[in-house]
Amino acid sequence: MSSTETTGSILITGIGELVTNASPDGLPSGQFAAVGDAALVIEGERVAWTGPARQAPAADEVIDAEGRAVLPGFVDSHAHLVFAGERSAEFAARMAGQGYAAGGIRTTVAATRGASDDELRAGLKRLAREMLRQGTTTFECKSGYGLTVGDEARSVALAGEVTPEVTYLGAHVIPAEYADDPAGYVDLVCGPMLGACAPHARWVDVFCERGAFDGDQARAILAAGAGKGLLPRVHASQLGPGPGITVAVEAGAASADHCTFLTDEDVAALASSGTVATLLPGAEFGTRQPYPDARRLLEAGVTVALATDCNPGSSFTSSMPFCVAIAVRDMRMTTAEAVWASTAGGARALRRDDIGYLAPGARADLVILDAPSHAYLAYRPGVPQVHTVIQAGRPA
Ligand code: NIG
Ligand code: FE
Repeated sequence: MSSTETTGSILITGIGELVTNASPDGLPSGQFAAVGDAALVIEGERVAWTGPARQAPAADEVIDAEGRAVLPGFVDSHAHLVFAGERSAEFAARMAGQGYAAGGIRTTVAATRGASDDELRAGLKRLAREMLRQGTTTFECKSGYGLTVGDEARSVALAGEVTPEVTYLGAHVIPAEYADDPAGYVDLVCGPMLGACAPHARWVDVFCERGAFDGDQARAILAAGAGKGLLPRVHASQLGPGPGITVAVEAGAASADHCTFLTDEDVAALASSGTVATLLPGAEFGTRQPYPDARRLLEAGVTVALATDCNPGSSFTSSMPFCVAIAVRDMRMTTAEAVWASTAGGARALRRDDIGYLAPGARADLVILDAPSHAYLAYRPGVPQVHTVIQAGRPA
């Protein structure tokens, strides 16, 4: 690969496969799309041109991709990055046969409450850099390991230092001090805690699951969040079937996440809604549960996204390529479907129309793979194949 000095526009040429996720007229498309022998021009933060390499216009800087594949930067629409401590012993115990329960979250809550802002900030920055190195150019970040007004407020404020996609998840689990007063905790989440967090957040989320929040509690929390201008998303049906999908669809949530244990009614409800099903295979890997059935959702017409769920308990991976590989191997997705779901699907789950595709006007977030096609993400699992990451037009 060769390049000359940067002054303004950048031409990337010699692209063996350009994954555009766009229609020929340059609009984001609902499915994977790619072209061979392609080039792409970046001006400022945006894509200015895409097309056949031989027709490419001149630019100030030229990057020769030498036949490599170029895809939109990964959009990781589900991550819990504001925390302290780690739970490797819990993971090891699970791999030795122990089960996973929502209550493990409280271990990380204790560590997070005891950490300084700078300690939390350092962990957050380390994970954000780790994601970028692996091709993730946009990620969502949840609170949810503070669970006091002060600790949730600082969690969303810190998350806002690294991403605009900040989610208030005061409803992650009932903290130990409210074990005998769950209704009191829901009031706190819907009242003073929401008031302190809403100015720093775009989204409100709730873990609707046995051992966490039930359907009525989840409805109340999403409605309170909406009252403060927050958009809903829901952790639903991760550990067993439950009301989460119904709650998400009723609330018009952008996404219902996990979707591991779905009834036929859940699938039908998702298919006739604008709610994306975000699948998080890292969580099934880390808890040794069955993977969600992506094929069943796709065949029903549900929009599917893939995300990491990066968190210290159930899924301590920040790797979108890892999730793509599992989705292809074990969730019956094609390589094209999995790459669409991890880019454009994530964009839809975040209601973003500027990312997840590559065509004029899109944000210039892209990955040059050290491979000739997107299929290598699953074909060579576990192998670092991200050659170059460009975020908002700049090499990262
Ligand atoms: O998405 N499901 C709820 N939250 C996380 C788990 C968090 C934890 O175990 O610390 C998840 O899997
Ligand atoms: Fe999660």
